[in-house]
Amino acid sequence: MNKPLDYIFPAPPSDVDLGALDVDRIPEHIAVIMDGNGRWAKKRALNRLRGHKAGIEAVRETIRCASDLGVRYLTIYSFSTENWKRPEDEVVGLMDLFAKTMLAEVDGLHEEHVRVMTIGDLSVLPAETREAFDEAWEKTRDNDGMTLVVAVNYGSRQEILRACEHCMREAVLVAEETGEVIVPTEELFERGLYTCGIPDPDLLIRTSGEMRLSNFLLWQIAYSEFVVTDVLWPDFDRYELLRCLLEYQGRDRRFGAVK
Ligand code: IPE
Ligand code: IPE
Ligand code: MG
Repeated sequence: MNKPLDYIFPAPPSDVDLGALDVDRIPEHIAVIMDGNGRWAKKRALNRLRGHKAGIEAVRETIRCASDLGVRYLTIYSFSTENWKRPEDEVVGLMDLFAKTMLAEVDGLHEEHVRVMTIGDLSVLPAETREAFDEAWEKTRDNDGMTLVVAVNYGSRQEILRACEHCMREAVLVAEETGEVIVPTEELFERGLYTCGIPDPDLLIRTSGEMRLSNFLLWQIAYSEFVVTDVLWPDFDRYELLRCLLEYQGRDRRFGAVK
């Protein structure tokens, strides 16, 4: 951990016991399904995009807090392969928001030694959005702090098909060279995933109370602890993250074995 707990959490609400947090059991990888921006806006009679904009502050705070706690990987679900079904103005507005936010935040993230990468198919994004993510990666790729993984135009089924294709290509190459028929292993399959080289999430958080995965990291979360909070994403803050961490630390991870 990089910073003292009372610096990271200066004013814990009375219902959370900061002393109960075990700093030696901070998850290495936290993945977040950031949900509820639209409902947050609706409650205030605002346009859905205002909810997405309000969610940026929650993203900023979550990144800072996770990085300060020594989390090594933070994956944030920003746009799914199914989110193209939304009204055009929302999709365009989101793509614009991603580009502008990435450009505005990259220097600050770089100063915090955060490495920014993406998972998903960026090839079909508007050029400005794709370029903003590419520039963030180029600028921060050698950083040794937390890796921020932005899932954008990400869909787990599409990723799994891609990994199958990787296995098939590998099998054809080996067959051509040696005449041998290989069967896929988990290692070979994982080399075809966007998340290749990234450890599986220890903790998966979903906001807004929805108990579903919405096509997120289906392979990778086989043994992740799932914490759902009713808080809508724009209301998520460091203390809500702390609550999720305390719930996570109360779980008994067995990985199929007996303890
Ligand atoms: C999550 O918030 C953000 C994205 C999917 C981009 P939503 O926009 O899904 O918010 P709700 O679920 O409609 O409240
Ligand atoms: C999941 O949220 C995708 C992101 C958070 C980017 P959705 O709001 O799109 O999921 P569903 O439609 O409620 O399953
Ligand atoms: Mg939603």
